[in-house]
Amino acid sequence: MEKLSLIFTRIAVAKQQFIEFLLAVTTYYKNTRFAKIDLYLLSRYWLRNPYRIARRYLQQRGDQDLYTYGETPLTTIHLIAVKAGISPDDTVLELGCGRGRTCFWLREWLGCRVVGIEQVPTFVETANQVKERFRVTGVDFVLGDYLQADWGTPTVIYLYASNLDEGTIALLAKKIASLKHPVRVISVSFPIPGLDVKRQFVLPFTWGDADVYVGRGVGQLD
Ligand SMILES: C[S@@+](CC[C@H](N)C(=O)[O-])C[C@H]1O[C@@H](n2cnc3c(N)ncnc32)[C@H](O)[C@@H]1O
Repeated sequence: MEKLSLIFTRIAVAKQQFIEFLLAVTTYYKNTRFAKIDLYLLSRYWLRNPYRIARRYLQQRGDQDLYTYGETPLTTIHLIAVKAGISPDDTVLELGCGRGRTCFWLREWLGCRVVGIEQVPTFVETANQVKERFRVTGVDFVLGDYLQADWGTPTVIYLYASNLDEGTIALLAKKIASLKHPVRVISVSFPIPGLDVKRQFVLPFTWGDADVYVGRGVGQLD
């Protein structure tokens, strides 16, 4: 029964991804540079499913919950950018950037400065190869644990992770509270404790609709 429901979920995800791909082609591929980057990135995964790559990484690490990977559809990050007021002046930090598709979109379509931190080596290696091939500047991919990494000075933090335990969320909240400058924090599925939630809306993701929270961290005075 559980297997059957997984098969139905996969069919629904594949259908949603196909519709999303058509929308990306007709909308974002008008920017031919972004089209080339995105198509090349996607082509690097034709024979390597990112969901399987993420699952294998978690399995080798001994995690129990292996089905945690998902991607923000480009149409959804576009809506988030509009609703949260992300502008080309922003430096966006994506915590857990996966294979980096959102980072490339934020850089090439919106023009933000972007940093993506990701723990799966294959995702970061491939994203860096794509970056080098197209000489993309203004986007950096960092391999590591975002709880330990140096975050720099982002003006926006984006986090799509629907399965984080309370301990991890508390650590994230602590790290955000320790930032010395104001930051907008966009989180999917849960609000970051301690932040003043400025906006909340529902948007479609690969696994279905999810709540998106835009909180404001005020930073600390030196
Ligand atoms: C649900 S996926 C979201 C991918 C991407 N942000 C997007 O929205 O398309 C979450 C990603 O966060 C990564 N991740 C989870 N915990 C992490 C951690 N502590 N440090 C770095 N990356 C992490 C996972 O490997 C996975 O690629």
